[in-house]
Amino acid sequence: MPVTINQLIQSKQQGRQIVVLTAYDFAIAELLDRAGVDIILVGDSLAMVALGYETTLPVTLDEMIHHAKAVRRGVKEALVVVDLPFLSYQESPQQAMHSAGRVLKETGAQAVKLEGGNPAIAQTVSQLTLAGIPVMGHVGLTPQSVHQLGYRKQGKTAEASERILGEAIALQDAGAFAIVLEHIPADLAAQISQKLAIPTIGIGAGPDCDGQVLVINDLLGLSVRLPPFAKAYTNLRETITEAVQNYAMEVREGKFPE
Ligand code: KIV
Repeated sequence: MPVTINQLIQSKQQGRQIVVLTAYDFAIAELLDRAGVDIILVGDSLAMVALGYETTLPVTLDEMIHHAKAVRRGVKEALVVVDLPFLSYQESPQQAMHSAGRVLKETGAQAVKLEGGNPAIAQTVSQLTLAGIPVMGHVGLTPQSVHQLGYRKQGKTAEASERILGEAIALQDAGAFAIVLEHIPADLAAQISQKLAIPTIGIGAGPDCDGQVLVINDLLGLSVRLPPFAKAYTNLRETITEAVQNYAMEVREGKFPE
């Protein structure tokens, strides 16, 4: 049965952890879906891990849609959420509506994610949800603001943690169905998770969120550098290198094809 937003809210109420992973193509999406992941996020981390950019900023809405279509074709059960990329929603609620509308219409994904929780973003979330577009929020370290924030942990002072808590509440009030909490202190994430009725999905935010998300390349050991809060569950860099070296050797030695 396909995962629904209502089920995710129930998961929080029943204390069932929500499992989220990113995917950027058909093959990986199909595997994650078969493995029973609840939410597959076509993150704008696509820019860095699949397209080789230094930051998430360069990826375009057209590129996000192109990859999201491939992901969606591989998924039967999981809820597919697509990141709205940098400057595809910040200009105005109208711009956000146009971008989110394209994502839902052209990819078949069920929801969009956008970063930040200031009053302008909350207003945008409110307009999108009023139009029937499910929105996932994202506060704490927001990579689209890398040139302001760097990749440092956020919410370390009382003032900053108060602000992040306020943003999370504003996003919930605006109609967001879940919120990613990225790279913030575990006690702040626990406090936000307790205050909100909607699920929080943590990444570098400790164990007391309502679910966890990882970038799939990090989990698979494909990333050259792992963020401090990520965990590799296998080492595909090694596995792939070895397989390719074996293939090259057999071709050069005339052993393949037999
Ligand atoms: O773009 C992304 O992959 C994300 C996750 C890290 C939450 O936003």
